[in-house]
Amino acid sequence: MIYNIAVIPGDGIGKEVTREANKILDAISQKYGFKIKRESFDWGCDYCLKHGKMCPENILDVLRGSDAIILGCIGDANKVPDHISLTLLLRIRKGFDQYVNLRPIKLYPGIETPIKTATPKTVDLVVVRENTEGEYSGVGGFFKMGHPEAAAFQTAIFTQKGCERVIRYAFELARKRKKYEGKTPVGMVTNCTKSNALNYSMVFWDLVYREVAQSYPDIKTDLALVDAITMWFVKTPEYFDVVVASNLFGDIITDLGSMLQGGMGFAAGGNINPERTYPSMFEPIHGSAPKYEGKGVANPVAAIESVKMMLDHLGEEAASLDIEKGLTKILSEGKFKTRDMGGKYSTSEMGDAIRESILKQK
Ligand code: IPM
Ligand code: MN
Repeated sequence: MIYNIAVIPGDGIGKEVTREANKILDAISQKYGFKIKRESFDWGCDYCLKHGKMCPENILDVLRGSDAIILGCIGDANKVPDHISLTLLLRIRKGFDQYVNLRPIKLYPGIETPIKTATPKTVDLVVVRENTEGEYSGVGGFFKMGHPEAAAFQTAIFTQKGCERVIRYAFELARKRKKYEGKTPVGMVTNCTKSNALNYSMVFWDLVYREVAQSYPDIKTDLALVDAITMWFVKTPEYFDVVVASNLFGDIITDLGSMLQGGMGFAAGGNINPERTYPSMFEPIHGSAPKYEGKGVANPVAAIESVKMMLDHLGEEAASLDIEKGLTKILSEGKFKTRDMGGKYSTSEMGDAIRESILKQK
């Protein structure tokens, strides 16, 4: 089997963590006997300074033939304003209809978290974030800019199709996960909403949620307002199984979720096109942290986890599980720690240790 993987290391620490992700991908592909054909692209803020745009106009055509995309991180506000640089990311998410942003929240043994309630036992949930519309629809405008009456409008768009497909994905996922194996119901999908205040968009979202839920009598339904979820995530993380959220709400609660996982260095995500009409894209969800660029201090775990998610998506489940086991082993030993974990190991030393740990797995 040969997989065509497009790699966009991007900005800041993106290049460093992507190098480690590729290291793991090489090791695991050799172990399992599949081949990786990689093509790397230098798109990002430096590219923009040189060419006046973040990437070539035909970026979607260039990427379309890949089986999956590995993204480091995008953005360096000292070079290009964020709302411009991030169009690169949003263009791929929308252009390839990656309507599910899958963000597992798991705490590895041995990892410290600032949240007292978080233990490897209590933290095991997945946020399914809508990834192509909602508050990120990009519809709006400026009005009378430069005048005292200046104004800005930003319109959120919630379509029947857009809500339905992501909510359905969440229910299917709950069925697959079977968090309450052997019990009825077998899983739960929490609807993250704000229909008490957003009287059109979120009322509509709730309506679609209830419609979809009817096809899943084996899955428990649940509703929590987004503000309350931030509280419950901290108070009782073990309560959650699958949480389905709109684009903006999902973005916000997964940053909080990363703290349950021990920090941003452990949070990975997949931008998934479930129908596989287009390639899906996998990325650590932390930012590019330009001030740490080139210092070798970034934590590569999230980038390595995103490779794990990619292998799952490609159907290489055994290889993916191996990465998880290797990570669990090395992290629970507690010897190798990057700066964010209170240690001194460099990004590449950490990557090497994880690689060795994975190769040693039987
Ligand atoms: C994320 C990021 C992006 C988002 C930004 C960089 C546009 O925060 O992937 O979580 O808001 O989706
Ligand atoms: Mn975010």
